[in-house]
Amino acid sequence: MTRVAIIGAGPSGLAQLRAFQSAKEKGADIPEIVCFEKQSNWGGLWNYTWRTGLDEYGEPVHCSMYRYLWSNGPKEGLEFADYSFEEHFGKPIASYPPRAVLFDYIEGRVKKAGVRDMIRFNSPVRHVTYDDEEGVFRVTVKDHEKDEEYTEDFDYVIVASGHFSTPNVPDFEGLDAFNGRVLHAHDFRDALEFKDKDILIIGTSYSAEDIGSQCWKYGCKSVTVSHRTAPMGYKWPDNWEEVPLLQKVEKNTATFKDGSQKHVDAIILCTGYLHHFPFMAEDLKLKTNNRLYPVNLYNGVVWEYNPKLMYLGMQDQWYTFNMFDAQAWYARDVVMGRIDLPSQEEMHADIDHWREVEDNLEDDYAAIRFQGDYTMRLMALTDYPDFDVSESNEAFFQWKKHKKENIMTFRNHGYKSALTGTMAPEHHTPWKDALDDSLESYLQTES
Ligand SMILES: Cc1cc2nc3c(=O)[nH]c(=O)nc-3n(C[C@H](O)[C@H](O)[C@H](O)COP(=O)(O)OP(=O)(O)OC[C@H]3O[C@@H](n4cnc5c(N)ncnc54)[C@H](O)[C@@H]3O)c2cc1C
Ligand SMILES: NC(=O)c1ccc[n+]([C@@H]2O[C@H](COP(=O)([O-])OP(=O)(O)OC[C@H]3O[C@@H](n4cnc5c(N)ncnc54)[C@H](OP(=O)(O)O)[C@@H]3O)[C@@H](O)[C@H]2O)c1
Repeated sequence: MTRVAIIGAGPSGLAQLRAFQSAKEKGADIPEIVCFEKQSNWGGLWNYTWRTGLDEYGEPVHCSMYRYLWSNGPKEGLEFADYSFEEHFGKPIASYPPRAVLFDYIEGRVKKAGVRDMIRFNSPVRHVTYDDEEGVFRVTVKDHEKDEEYTEDFDYVIVASGHFSTPNVPDFEGLDAFNGRVLHAHDFRDALEFKDKDILIIGTSYSAEDIGSQCWKYGCKSVTVSHRTAPMGYKWPDNWEEVPLLQKVEKNTATFKDGSQKHVDAIILCTGYLHHFPFMAEDLKLKTNNRLYPVNLYNGVVWEYNPKLMYLGMQDQWYTFNMFDAQAWYARDVVMGRIDLPSQEEMHADIDHWREVEDNLEDDYAAIRFQGDYTMRLMALTDYPDFDVSESNEAFFQWKKHKKENIMTFRNHGYKSALTGTMAPEHHTPWKDALDDSLESYLQTES
């Protein structure tokens, strides 16, 4: 029997399990599936832990999420086409759910599908190689519960281990003698730690914007954001400043490229993440920066040099859960022989084509359309339920507009579901005043 290994039970790996289970539900014979997950539960980044650094087994902690994290994009952009928010919660909910609410939604679908017994938890994959002669992958896994390492053979490997967990950590002069805390966004957990503090953030992307906003919301004294390329340019609150790149730190004084200086108590490096697959043999390892069309992946999924290897969710992400689904349904149909692949030369040329299109995208709006179109192309190849991607694009466009209007109120808006057509209700409390991010609080109808 064909054997398929899935590495990771985050949203991408779970999408893959659901894709196979849905084929089985429709009467198809599916291969034997084994999903290896290094944590003790599913949900990937959405599975929050207080831990940082190494976990109880000495494994690098995967979680990059923090307390009080609310979705940074509208939920209407990520809704599973086979499982609406309304189906899960039994009523319409507001558009920017906190982490616990999204975790509940992710879990609801896979509980319903009954796929948990396909997952081996506490099981980090240590090594994957390909045996050319036998045409199989050798997958070596550590079973932390039994404290044993073992190797099994698989016909296909699907890597769904995420790429926002291994921090990219630049160095700056004087950090080794700084009189305060220096941390990467990956290790940020609780904004209250920075109450009444002057914080310096390096970077200008989502982590910078959101961690700065969290610290502001929970009472830090000031936020200074240092940029390498360009400032974010939102209308920030009065105690928020954007400055050029950090040059050096002396005691608690930070000096920036324009010569300006600032007293800071803590420095948070929001400098992004590395695609990091230490468990993959060099010849199977995806090596890319964070972009919409990574190198070497045909249709963004299939490893062009060995199409029995696939990667899910390795793109920079506007679309997330529903894009992972489209990829997972596609990967399933490649494995099950329902989709034929072209020659390696043709795959390579196709990848080059889309990378060139990406390189010429004008702005974020074009980038959103690009990823929406990509998701739609994949969906059209499988039986993943169709949904109106242009409606999801529209939610993203509105989101960008609302951020521009007011970066501290954009989460108070609601958008229309592409699945159900329902307009999301306004949340009962404006985001900046909603200090309780629990599921119970979010689902209340009144504050
Ligand atoms: C701080 C932060 C906030 C985010 N917020 C949002 C948001 O609001 N909305 C949104 O849509 N997206 C958000 N994202 C994007 C996020 O990437 C996706 O939502 C989603 O979690 C990606 O799913 P994934 O399964 O590809 O990867 P992950 O969620 O990273 O899951 C990968 C899984 O693989 C496991 N794994 C890793 N290595 C191994 C190994 N060697 N062996 C076995 N298992 C392994 C991990 O333990 C993990 O469970 C956020 C990302 C970050 C970092
Ligand atoms: N609430 C939420 O939902 C939430 C919160 C946080 C993060 N996220 C998600 O997490 C993912 C990762 O976002 P991210 O912001 O961590 O990473 P990112 O989008 O990859 O951005 C990395 C940032 O680091 C900067 N940078 C990198 N190296 C640098 C250096 N040497 N010096 C100075 N700056 C440097 C980059 O600047 P340049 O522009 O100069 O390259 C960029 O601004 C995204 O998918 C995002 O949606 C979501």
